[in-house]
Amino acid sequence: MPIPREIVEEILQAARIEEVVGEFVTLKKRGANLIGVCPFHNEKTPSFNVNPARNIFKCFGCGKAGDSAKFLMEHEHVSYPEALRYLAKKYNIKIEEKELSPEELMAQTEREKMFNINAFADKYFVDTLWNTDEGKSVGLSYFYERGFLNPIIERFHLGYSPAQWDAFSKHAKANGYDPEFLEKVGFSIKRQSGEYYDRFHGRVMFPIHNLTGKVIGFGGRILHNDPEKKLAKYQNSPESEIYQKKETLYGIYFAKSAIVNKDECILVEGYFDVLRMHQIGIENVVASSGTSLTTEQIRLIKRYTKNITMLYDGDQAGIHAALRGTDMILTEGMNVRVVVLPPEHDPDSFAKEYPTDEVLNYLQTHTKDFIRFKTELLLHDAGNDPIQKGQVVRTIVDTISLVPDPIFRISYVKETSRLLDMPEETLMVELNKLLRAKFKKSLGVEGEAIPDETVTAPKQEEHEEDTLPPGYYQERELVKLLLLYGSNILSLKRMGEDGQVIEEQVTVAQLIVDDLLNDGIQFNDPVNQRILNVYDEALNTDTLPNDHFFTSNEDPQIAQQSIDLLSTPYKLDRWEKHGIFVKTEEDKLIDTIEDSLLRYKDQIIEAKRKEIQKQIKETQDLDRQLELMKQKKYWDDLKVRFNEKLGIVIVK
Ligand code: CTP
Ligand code: MN
Repeated sequence: MPIPREIVEEILQAARIEEVVGEFVTLKKRGANLIGVCPFHNEKTPSFNVNPARNIFKCFGCGKAGDSAKFLMEHEHVSYPEALRYLAKKYNIKIEEKELSPEELMAQTEREKMFNINAFADKYFVDTLWNTDEGKSVGLSYFYERGFLNPIIERFHLGYSPAQWDAFSKHAKANGYDPEFLEKVGFSIKRQSGEYYDRFHGRVMFPIHNLTGKVIGFGGRILHNDPEKKLAKYQNSPESEIYQKKETLYGIYFAKSAIVNKDECILVEGYFDVLRMHQIGIENVVASSGTSLTTEQIRLIKRYTKNITMLYDGDQAGIHAALRGTDMILTEGMNVRVVVLPPEHDPDSFAKEYPTDEVLNYLQTHTKDFIRFKTELLLHDAGNDPIQKGQVVRTIVDTISLVPDPIFRISYVKETSRLLDMPEETLMVELNKLLRAKFKKSLGVEGEAIPDETVTAPKQEEHEEDTLPPGYYQERELVKLLLLYGSNILSLKRMGEDGQVIEEQVTVAQLIVDDLLNDGIQFNDPVNQRILNVYDEALNTDTLPNDHFFTSNEDPQIAQQSIDLLSTPYKLDRWEKHGIFVKTEEDKLIDTIEDSLLRYKDQIIEAKRKEIQKQIKETQDLDRQLELMKQKKYWDDLKVRFNEKLGIVIVK
């Protein structure tokens, strides 16, 4: 069911771009705007701009831009209606929803259906845990035995799936869910006989939430390790359109604000590690959940902080997992530290065994930056063998070469020199050799576009002047004037035909549009022309569109273009946007418009004359030549009028 137009408007007006984006990207104030690291491309210097006044975002690095709905669509990979519903919920705007008819149910997108079944299952597992005898005696008591308390069990929506083979499959079927769909999303598995049974039967359940708090999948743990049965300790939902393991971090929804506050993210391996840390009050914790850490997961964290602390199991596997992770994190330009726990522990068991202040103390005293961690580890393995020690040097220097920031690289060299008891120069020579080799290798491969530090210049203005169509900049300036001041009312005095002074009230849009139409001029850029057409049409009605209408326009090219134009700073920006000007401002605006029109037309007319002149030379056909000369006369005359400034003469 489409959302009514008025409601869409209401939602888009209510949505504050800085709040919507702020849920996913750490933003810092810069002047009237906010900036952050772009979530859509990989960058080091923030070039992602949020403009609260215009309610839009724009990245000057990759060019992505739009309003709140567009941001969610791009960022969360949701459809437009899904984005609107999310915003409606966030801003408490009611969208009339009627019971879905079977056809509408069919039409619901696959993704929505997947979110829906996950929410349904979440409720079922939680209900079963708290409200059934089996749930309480088996599931809940399992959590209690492991030392977890109600607040954590409730907050993370932990649940229980009954031992009966097909309890959930049956329950879901009775509620209208198709068994084949249940199989696809992973709740049911089909037997040879054609019956369906539950993937998670007889397990305690961990729902996995995405950034916005929606359940996208589950992990389920068996209650007792039974070597006879050879059951996997954990079962997880299979990957689906809404659940991609390599892009998911368990606990991120519950941890993200703590991560921002602490400016640090602690990375652990398992579900219970996350729960335990939260229970002892450390909330900036997420888990990679069994998969080895991925670049996507690291970038997810990077939206909130640049500092990662890996808190991995103290066994060999944990240490090596940490070792693998550090290089990836460094490559992303982030800082990484490592805490190694005593060999027999994982974070869960460690924090269960010791009092909270001892745990905190351990974390404080055992946190090592990656250089120390890696050097000590490798040196320990190398012993006193000089050849092996040489290998250690090379490995460490190799790691340092991954660090993108040269200043950090130097400080790591200093530290390594101390740890390895080697002269800094030796290490620097090694490092430079490596960096040069890498640089050479990277040549030919297109590097990352370096975002503009000042975050002002639009890309287009870097183009070669002479490849641009005539009047390119002036055309853009005129569209910008329209977008910024189109509905402002000016009071003009102009000379009537009989020489009398006529005073009239016109909008900026009318002034510009009429003037261009009068001279039969069309914009070169089709998108600019479409914007002009919108104003032209609107001038026949009472209401002129505002800039929001364009920045959220259903025509994506119009939206992109208007955002481009509106996001470049402009000397007029400080003027009143809607309403009456102070007199001098009005005069200045009129001057600016007049000036822009003149300069634009000057360019266009020159280009037309040249072009027609060229055609006259090229053609042999006399009729055609005469026709062209007539055309040329039109532009010549216009030029004359122009030079005398007869286009719009304003008497002040
Ligand atoms: N894992 C998984 N599938 C498995 C084993 C592990 O998905 N067969 C994931 C789970 O997310 C688990 C994490 O890897 O939480 C870490 O595994 P492990 O250390 O074996 O489990 P713990 O979280 O320590 O669970 P427990 O304390 O109950 O043994
Ligand atoms: Mn454990």
